[in-house]
Amino acid sequence: MAGVGLVVPPLLGFGCGSEEGQPPAGTITETQTIQEKVTRPLSQIDRYIDPLPVPDTLAPETERYPDTDYYEIRMSQFEQQLHSQLPRTAVWGYGGSFPGPTIEARRGRKTRIKWINDDLPGTHLLQQAIDPTIYQGREYPDVRTITHMHGCFVAPEADGQPDAWSTPGGSQTGPRHYGNEFTYPNDQPATMLWYHDHAMHITRLNVYAGLSGLYIIRDEEEDNLELPSGEYEIPLIIQDRFLTEEGLLTYPTNGTTPIHPIWVLHIFGDTPVINGSIYPFLDAEPRRYRLRLLNGSNARTWNLWFEKTGTPGNNGVGSVHPVSAIGTDGGLLPVPVQLEKVRLAPAERADIILDLTGFEKGTVLTLRNDARAAYPFGEEIILDNLMQVRVNRDIKGVDNTTKAERLNLPDMPVITSTPGLPKRIFFLGEQNDPEYGVIGWLINERFFHDPVEETPRAGTTEIWEIVNFTLDAHPFHIHLVQFQVLNRQPFDQWGYWYAYQDYLAESAPIMGPDDFLTGPAVPPPPEEAGWKDTALSMPGEVLRLVVPFNVPEGVEGPARYIYHCHMLEHEDNDMMRPFDVLQ
Ligand code: C2O
Ligand code: CU
Ligand code: CU
Repeated sequence: MAGVGLVVPPLLGFGCGSEEGQPPAGTITETQTIQEKVTRPLSQIDRYIDPLPVPDTLAPETERYPDTDYYEIRMSQFEQQLHSQLPRTAVWGYGGSFPGPTIEARRGRKTRIKWINDDLPGTHLLQQAIDPTIYQGREYPDVRTITHMHGCFVAPEADGQPDAWSTPGGSQTGPRHYGNEFTYPNDQPATMLWYHDHAMHITRLNVYAGLSGLYIIRDEEEDNLELPSGEYEIPLIIQDRFLTEEGLLTYPTNGTTPIHPIWVLHIFGDTPVINGSIYPFLDAEPRRYRLRLLNGSNARTWNLWFEKTGTPGNNGVGSVHPVSAIGTDGGLLPVPVQLEKVRLAPAERADIILDLTGFEKGTVLTLRNDARAAYPFGEEIILDNLMQVRVNRDIKGVDNTTKAERLNLPDMPVITSTPGLPKRIFFLGEQNDPEYGVIGWLINERFFHDPVEETPRAGTTEIWEIVNFTLDAHPFHIHLVQFQVLNRQPFDQWGYWYAYQDYLAESAPIMGPDDFLTGPAVPPPPEEAGWKDTALSMPGEVLRLVVPFNVPEGVEGPARYIYHCHMLEHEDNDMMRPFDVLQ
């Protein structure tokens, strides 16, 4: 396992450094039919010998509630083969699989899910990684879960928030527990959401153990586009993990400082896992595919591209094969965008078309990554060469789907000007200890359980300005809403930080970043110009979001939601805050 030691410059947390460690120099081999069950140490496994698994789509019970698809999904611990040359690995999962099964929903028809954690063991799979020093003096049972539907327009009681956890059997619950059976209205455009655990202070371990899965909403607008579907629509849930040479799942426990002797600043696994499989491959036909990408990693940002790494005549080997982005977190983009690289921060999704039309049999594309960890400046291992797509099947019938650049995507209002909208500022900074320096992160110097300070009104739109004082990029996520990125603008990080300290010291009103801006505001790249629920806040930049607030039908009174950094180690140690939507 790579060491996750601490490297912290005096003022600004830089993330983790690692002294050891190159990625395993995996040998890239041709497809082999490995029938013998001889296992090898992790560092000697072959790449691209296991077919990419695709999570099953669950069939709903449709009779139990009117106009509603009903499911019961159980969480449990089980063993799963992550690679054919490794022994089976103990993981947690929903519905007996890692990642969990996919739920498909139809816009306008509700989904109701009973999330059952009774089958989880009494001891956490990653018990040694539990660190009560991040509990802010509270006490929690080790095994506790609550499922959140990420990106969902949903009532607060059904949102699955950190304090809504319960233990297996339900003998203990968090202070804001509303049961385990939730209704999702599906009153939002077609897109891919995902469900994952969100229990207070332990989300990172529960999700890492395997508690996540996909939730796909479909609608007529999407149907009319004739996109690749069925076996030609493939989700890619991209994660990173640490495994021992024997294939046991591990999570770093070497801590940050004596203040938090176990909890680490963030983790960057040394093994890529896609749909629960290590270095898989996809056998493809020469036609269009729709890939639904999710960055399901705890903390790693990916910058992905497909590279031609093998062709029959060696033509074009080494060149990038561009893809077309057609959707973001919250739905389809207004126009398709041709892209060489797709950057995905934790929790972000990308809906892309990979066009293999006319490719000769024998063409091999490798999914590559060059994002540093911590993004963008860190020095942890860059995980590269994640999976292969091989064109080695004949096309079945004809490909009747529309070429990406000719897709007539539904209209979507892109907000580019926002005069007069109310603004709120959010400062991403550090938790500091007088003796040990940086021991974590905070938003606005507040802890999660400090009183609510943001109370937007339903039916209004606000500008949220995220000011990043750290040297890491943080994926800023807001529950309930889909927002748009207005722009990003560089500022004088030190100057503004000192001024901010002065405001705090004098309890003076906090000034906006205007006096400290050092360059023009840059609108988001076109592939980010859609509905988003998570956006990357870059170090030294102001990230401006346009956020419309509304609540689902039937929600009364102040509705409690949360916003947070989606690096799960950050979120677990209080880089997370509540807000109330007033009506
Ligand atoms: Cu992916 Cu608070 O959520
Ligand atoms: Cu969420
Ligand atoms: Cu963060």
